Amino acid sequence: MADALYKKLGLVNTREMFKKAVDGGYAIPAYNFNNMEQLQAIMGACAESNSPVIIQVSSGARKYANQTLLRYMAEGAVQMVRKDLKSNIPICLHLDHGDTFELCKSCIDSGFSSVMIDGSHHPYEKNVELTKQVVEYAHKYDVTVEGELGVLAGIEDKVSAAESTYTKPEEVQDFVEKTGVDSLAISIGTSHGAYKFKPGANVPPLRFDILKEIEKKLPGFPIVLHGSSSIPKEYVEMVNKYGGKMKDAIGVSEDQLREAAKSAVCKINIDSDGRLVVTGVIRKVFAEKPAEFDPRKYLGPAREELKKLLIHKNQNVLGSAGKA
Ligand code: G3H
Ligand code: 13P
Ligand code: ZN
Repeated sequence: MADALYKKLGLVNTREMFKKAVDGGYAIPAYNFNNMEQLQAIMGACAESNSPVIIQVSSGARKYANQTLLRYMAEGAVQMVRKDLKSNIPICLHLDHGDTFELCKSCIDSGFSSVMIDGSHHPYEKNVELTKQVVEYAHKYDVTVEGELGVLAGIEDKVSAAESTYTKPEEVQDFVEKTGVDSLAISIGTSHGAYKFKPGANVPPLRFDILKEIEKKLPGFPIVLHGSSSIPKEYVEMVNKYGGKMKDAIGVSEDQLREAAKSAVCKINIDSDGRLVVTGVIRKVFAEKPAEFDPRKYLGPAREELKKLLIHKNQNVLGSAGKA
């Protein structure tokens, strides 16, 4: 096996963390970051709650913050956790929703320990071919790969919740065998963003029946749940109270996530909740202290509140606290 850059950076791939999570009936948090404050909150929360963590970068994040800077921020975060927070938690640096071989290769070459190749919007055979190509390259460097079957509403293919297509359990075994992926993202009713379900109507439960079928076809195989923000009411109210307009924002209930975490679902992706908290707190500070113009005075409290929320998720929802 070729020398893996990520190992020199103190990162790990997902293999060991997923095995422990599936066996232990909990899920690893996969938190997105785009800036320093988010990364500090994630690392602080996971070090304090002694939770393994996946920090993930989307191609949008690479464009926003600069791909080189993000990669060094992740390296710096590992150093901060080890030296300053005195914590040895396993940390994985993951590409979220990679859409081309070239993007995945670029991340692997620059030190990522895990990549997602999201070919779910392609026809099945094309998804297999693209995923296999990424796996062949990644595994030379002991980098783990997440593939996806089924389409979630939101960023994937710009589909609405009503149009999302659930994963077909009859395809999963063939896909995993043909591609060699290390984990599989599935579609069972979650979606990306802050507006996952229609207001007023009864929120449809996640399709745990499909998850069970998938688990039967792939016993013990690591399953990933995207679109898993809960969009806590208190933060939606905070945003709206201080001038925001996020009426009808609804997420996945914590109860359902707790249930999923006990199954073969071993990675739970959360991004929108972080955006929501940060926005709520910043709006509050702006409203209450209109003379304030030092970014530290509003980004600091936003970072603190985000850290609190992530500790809560690790401890009370995903069950990853204390599992590092
Ligand atoms: O699943 C998508 C993540 O929330 C990343 O979103 O593409 O806006 O960075 P983004
Ligand atoms: P949310 O929009 O529900 O936070 O989902 C994030 C996600 O799936 C990142 O890949
Ligand atoms: Zn996603």
